[in-house]
Amino acid sequence: MKDTLFSVEGKVAIVTGGLGQLGSQFANELLKRGAKVAVFGRTMRSHSIEQLYSKEDRDFNRVSFHTVDITDKQCIHSAVDAVVARWGVPHILVNNAGIDTQPSAPAAVSGPFENFPEDVFREVVDVNLTGTFLMIQAVGALMAENGRGSIINIGSIYGMLSPIQDIYAYKKNKTGIPFIKPVAYSAAKSGLYNLTRYCATYWAKKGVRVNILSPSGVFRNTQDAEFQKNYCERMPIGRMARSEEYNGAIIFLASDASLYMTGANLVMDGGWTAW
Ligand SMILES: NC(=O)c1ccc[n+]([C@@H]2O[C@H](COP(=O)([O-])OP(=O)(O)OC[C@H]3O[C@@H](n4cnc5c(N)ncnc54)[C@H](O)[C@@H]3O)[C@@H](O)[C@H]2O)c1
Repeated sequence: MKDTLFSVEGKVAIVTGGLGQLGSQFANELLKRGAKVAVFGRTMRSHSIEQLYSKEDRDFNRVSFHTVDITDKQCIHSAVDAVVARWGVPHILVNNAGIDTQPSAPAAVSGPFENFPEDVFREVVDVNLTGTFLMIQAVGALMAENGRGSIINIGSIYGMLSPIQDIYAYKKNKTGIPFIKPVAYSAAKSGLYNLTRYCATYWAKKGVRVNILSPSGVFRNTQDAEFQKNYCERMPIGRMARSEEYNGAIIFLASDASLYMTGANLVMDGGWTAW
């Protein structure tokens, strides 16, 4: 029996930040299942493209790459027009591009709240929240005209809850400089939850669904051992997520399996928010 419930075959998707750790996973999972994928990213390095996307997908018109800064409306519209001209109006939009402050960040951008720089706050909100808004505005409007579409925003447990600063306290012992997980990412991601609900209800009768996926931390081999230990001790499942572990949620939200779901927050966090 052919499984049509979770099918994305023949659909057209846009994945922002598709050369990043999670975005490349999402895009490749969609490709593997027969969707065509337009990858939007701020920088399109050919060696990253060749490393992350198969020659077959690149050669057979299944994937396209677009240099797009999602904070630039004009740039978004030109790229969306190019996708529409090539494959038609997208069925799926994954708003994955984002910026965060890692524990390796310089002290100037990871100091106390009282001195957190306004320009950095604005930049993080601009990319994570305003950029997502601009992408939804451009693509959602076309989807609504066509009477179908699934928009998936990528949130974060840090947009639902405040970060636990104790996890990062080891940095001060190690380097003498405290690392305070900044407010900007939390505030920006938090805004995505009501952007999601607003657009979901706004377009509900037009057949456009808008949902948000809330992941927790993903393992990277560049993370400090102390950070991983502290994080995993707090995590009910006892480990960080693997890069590919959110792909199932993307396929569920992109396909007809979630046809009656809109405005929802799909939390996939190893149990982080359960206690
Ligand atoms: N990795 C995690 O632990 C984690 C946890 C929770 C949520 N998330 C969220 O998942 C998403 C992907 O995270 P990731 O870990 O893969 O990050 P990543 O840094 O590996 O990838 C993010 C991508 O977004 C792109 N990008 C940044 N600003 C852009 C802009 N203005 N225009 C276009 N592209 C831009 C970057 O170039 C990069 O390719 C983000 O929204 C992030 O907040 C990640």
